[in-house]
Amino acid sequence: MDIAVINGSPKGEISVTMQYVKFIQKKFPQHELKFFNVSHDILKIEKSPRQFGHIIDQVRKADGVMWAVPLYVFLVPSQYKRFIEMIFEQGVQDAFKDKYACVITTSVHFFDHTANSYMRGICDDLGMKFTEFFAADMDDLFIEERREALLKWADVFFSSIEFGPPCYRANLPIVQSKFAYKPGKAAGNVETRGQKVLVLADIENEKSNIARMVSRFTAAFKDEIEVYNVREIDIKGGCLGCIQCGFDNKCAYGDKDDFMNFFNEHMRDKDVIIFAGAIKDRFFSSRLKMFWDRSFFNGHIPLFIDRQIGFLVSGPLAQLHNMQEIMQAHAEMMEANLTGVVTDESADSGQIDEMLDALAEKCVDYAQHKYLRPRTFLGVGGHKIFRDELWARLRFPFTADFRFYEKHKMFDFPQDDVRYKEFSQQMIQMIQDPKMKEAVRKMIKTEMIRSYAKVVESK
Ligand SMILES: Cc1cc2nc3c(=O)[nH]c(=O)nc-3n(C[C@H](O)[C@H](O)[C@H](O)COP(=O)(O)O)c2cc1C
Repeated sequence: MDIAVINGSPKGEISVTMQYVKFIQKKFPQHELKFFNVSHDILKIEKSPRQFGHIIDQVRKADGVMWAVPLYVFLVPSQYKRFIEMIFEQGVQDAFKDKYACVITTSVHFFDHTANSYMRGICDDLGMKFTEFFAADMDDLFIEERREALLKWADVFFSSIEFGPPCYRANLPIVQSKFAYKPGKAAGNVETRGQKVLVLADIENEKSNIARMVSRFTAAFKDEIEVYNVREIDIKGGCLGCIQCGFDNKCAYGDKDDFMNFFNEHMRDKDVIIFAGAIKDRFFSSRLKMFWDRSFFNGHIPLFIDRQIGFLVSGPLAQLHNMQEIMQAHAEMMEANLTGVVTDESADSGQIDEMLDALAEKCVDYAQHKYLRPRTFLGVGGHKIFRDELWARLRFPFTADFRFYEKHKMFDFPQDDVRYKEFSQQMIQMIQDPKMKEAVRKMIKTEMIRSYAKVVESK
């Protein structure tokens, strides 16, 4: 069989993910896996209709498609997303339709589920027959059982192409709206009260809903706030995945473009950051994603500690829970507060105006009060993954992260929790006596709230 492997690593074939695919190729020599390094070659593919057309022709001829991609910042790399956007822009979905598809990701399991869910949505949108995803840890290839699982997963994919079983569609098609937002006049009475507000917008067309939402949001303020269009910042390309930034948070692009300067000059000192963009397929555009990916020159350091992060979104966000989860997770991993989200989905201009005014007021109020809601599983779990990874596996090359985590006491392993350890030790000792065990058993409920009740009484 002829399989098109759509390689998402910006490193081309010098890629961890590709080692997994090459291993599959070695064990299934009866099939031919053809590699298309779309992330690595994206700038050329964008410029050359011939090169894009060649890849699409090969997909059309293939018996099945293997999407093989590393995790980049909650999703796939921006270059991969750009390739996916081109499929829809150029109207070549038919090349993928009805073909069997599978997805393999490599990562450290930090939000690999959101990237896989995104890819599954794309396969559904393309009308593909999705078999299974394989969310490999980047080191799974070293473990025999994981190698076996990998081969089983590949076998399921190849057999599906051969025997043609029906496949479950996990995502309904997205319903798009044609609503055109017509902003009303803003009162312009929200004072920033010393809080620095920045809007980072992705605006392709000045007449689009998102452009209008951004200007209406800006007009809600009495004072000037900073607004930048991510398309006007000099960013030469997506993150290369070279991780040279690990030692000292310096991006390998250096001064070849303005990204690092822009980030250092404008993003670091803000109290409120609003990301604004229209949805393209099932997420923000690849351009906004490029901004997030390139921010990785800061490694795993939370960048907006105690700040407010909000979102203006044009498009069907309510239909995209995966995207909502990423937005929440992004704020939480930055140790920021997700202030709020405004979309144009109500299709009611007056209501959108009100929501934009309310968000403007809220982000200043929250920033002034340094209001931070507790992190959920997304931020708490994400932190634990980063902490554990930086402690050992990623300590090199991410030495700058290690220094930051140490300095800010972010290696908060439960092993250090002496109070609870000693308490547990005493209690375990106590329940060795069967009578005490029975007595303690009955007291657990009341004893458990004793110290909480004290706080309620005394504060
Ligand atoms: C810019 C960048 C962002 C990353 N983001 C994530 C992430 O969100 N979650 C994760 O688990 N791993 C993340 N990783 C780790 C890679 O997914 C992992 O190392 C992968 O195996 C690299 O594959 P490749 O060599 O094929 O490019 C990131 C790596 C880079 C360079």
